Amino acid sequence: MEIKKVGVVGCGLMGSGIAQVCAQSGYQTVISEVNDELLKRGMGAITSLLARNVGKGKMTEQDKETVLARLKGTTAIGDLGDCDLVVEAVIEDMAEKKKVFAALDGFCPKHTILTSNTSCLSITEMAMATKRPDRVVGTHFFNPVPVMRPVEIVRTIASSDETVATAKSFGESLGKTVILANDTPGFIVNRLLIPFILDAIRALEAGVATREDIDNGIVLGLNHPMGPLTLGDFVGLDTAYFVANAMYEEFKDPKYAPPPLLKKMIIAGYFGRKTGKGFYDYK
Ligand code: 3HC
Repeated sequence: MEIKKVGVVGCGLMGSGIAQVCAQSGYQTVISEVNDELLKRGMGAITSLLARNVGKGKMTEQDKETVLARLKGTTAIGDLGDCDLVVEAVIEDMAEKKKVFAALDGFCPKHTILTSNTSCLSITEMAMATKRPDRVVGTHFFNPVPVMRPVEIVRTIASSDETVATAKSFGESLGKTVILANDTPGFIVNRLLIPFILDAIRALEAGVATREDIDNGIVLGLNHPMGPLTLGDFVGLDTAYFVANAMYEEFKDPKYAPPPLLKKMIIAGYFGRKTGKGFYDYK
């Protein structure tokens, strides 16, 4: 099946990144948000990242305008009605996601593939909110989407082989390396990443070392671009906490249980970069 037009629901950090990559890869792209303010913020973020690429000589002003011309922002989700594939990237709340899937299922043509960018929630449950569970898969991108190479394509027990194959070609057409995973909380990457970040927090909590030494140990000792505490701040400690809880709830394995320090930071509103404070200060 050929994908010509892509829809993205949600213009936050991940949704705007996904829409940018789709438009840069030649797709007509419609992105929806719940209000003008959020839409303006997301579209503004895309425009500045493209302008930065122009500034660095990575694209011309004309390329930037061509990409922007392929992008249409809307606050009416029904405007995604003629898309061949729609990526849902709204908040990590199953009830909200199911509402989006049911709405998309109601007005998108039969052939449209519906996907979710969730980090950890059940794709199967979202698929069952539609009458087309065979045409639902996960497309889990990584932050920052324009830079990070992989996309996890997540199949449920109801996904058809054709849908998985189309989603795989779509991921590759975005210049991403496709990783295939089955629908289990955290898929592949977060299944390994979340316990890693939680263990770094436990090490800090136990007084094993300072935040800087824990991070430097991993950056220098394992050649990672960021240490686990910096990475937690980068992805958002609220997100890490949410994913950890969802995985703990499913597996009941203590390695996914958020340590008390993380819980205290969430209560205090220390979510990392997005709030200006996490393990480090960003003000
Ligand atoms: N959006 C778009 N591009 C960005 C960006 C952003 N937010 N931040 C950085 N970049 C680009 C820069 O423009 C630069 O591009 P260039 O090479 O074309 O000039 C390139 O990335 C490198 O950036 P910098 O030189 O400014 O900085 P670094 O070399 O330190 O790289 C980084 C920044 C790419 C964020 C790097 O530190 C990194 O890879 N960190 C790890 C990120 C990671 O692990 N992400 C996955 C998180 S897990 C996840 O998303 C799953 C979820 O479910 C939790």
